[in-house]
Amino acid sequence: MAIEVPDIGLRLKPDLLPTAQIIYRDMCNLRPGERVLIIADARAPDYLISVFHGVALMMGAEVSVIETQVPRGGATYQPSAKWPSMVVAASTEADLIIDFAVGYAAFIVEAIKRGARVFSPGDGIALPYTDDVLIRTILHTDVQAIRRRAERIAALFTKASLCTMITGDAVLKVDISGIDGFAASGFLWDAEAQKFIEPWAFAPPAQPGILIPEGRANGEVLVDGTLLYHPVYHAAPPTPLRLRYENGRLVDIGGDPLFAGRLRDWLEKLGDEGAYKGPVHLNLGINPNALLTQHPEWERVMGSVTCGMGDLSLLGVLIGDADGPLPKSTVHWDWTTLRPTILLDDVVLVREGILNDAVC
Ligand SMILES: [Fe+2]
Repeated sequence: MAIEVPDIGLRLKPDLLPTAQIIYRDMCNLRPGERVLIIADARAPDYLISVFHGVALMMGAEVSVIETQVPRGGATYQPSAKWPSMVVAASTEADLIIDFAVGYAAFIVEAIKRGARVFSPGDGIALPYTDDVLIRTILHTDVQAIRRRAERIAALFTKASLCTMITGDAVLKVDISGIDGFAASGFLWDAEAQKFIEPWAFAPPAQPGILIPEGRANGEVLVDGTLLYHPVYHAAPPTPLRLRYENGRLVDIGGDPLFAGRLRDWLEKLGDEGAYKGPVHLNLGINPNALLTQHPEWERVMGSVTCGMGDLSLLGVLIGDADGPLPKSTVHWDWTTLRPTILLDDVVLVREGILNDAVC
């Protein structure tokens, strides 16, 4: 599966301004007088930061921007990344943090515990084409319809006891009894209900699913989409990887010879037992305009499923719904399968990568 090429431009797209307005007004409910902290690093283009700065000013907010270093190793290593004390200190004053750089971090968890809201327009990473991603997946979609669908799918996960995922001849069974689904709708604010629904949200919308405590998954999966592991962003295996799980632990890596070897070697050298734990989350992409680019928008490609591996101790608190023991690791890595069939008990949610409109 080839990686698709987004629209990479060197100029500010005017369409980014109404996109930022939708994010602040409809998804974050930014109000006049609130303190907005924008955290970025050098991967974020100046015009992206300026737009989020300027639109917040237009809405009457007080805004500060802080740029920090590019974290070593990219998103995979977020659970063990070290952040400068000045960034951490600034976060203590913010009502709303716009995060273009951090993702999972203990100081973000602490900010939320203090009552701050956090919105991550690029899912913890801003890249030169994050503007294109946001315009396509937010401005050019019906984000409210995506939010409502994400909530319906989350409710289906909550109701079910067993999630069965079929990819080719591989079957993975996950015991999801007693676990609540979560919408991961990308919204902090529900304008229809006029209430805040989450303290932390990430774009593009949406990827409803479940957080999975230890020991729940058995069987095999074929990974034909993406593999986010080492060192940054992700790669797409030329032929499917075959991963086998026993009681919530990855026990065998087969399939594509190149990527199976690389993944096995990386995990062995990492020497972190927590990195084999998983899946720790299972999420269904439902954005009609998300593409398989190097941006984490690939997790929202319609009908695909992304599972996380390794650390859940930070995400579990950020989402706030996790039950049971949460795996801890120095890394959080992910894989995506593009054409799964998903059964929730005996309800068909997805058939070969196509959502079942009759149930969601
Ligand atoms: Fe993940």
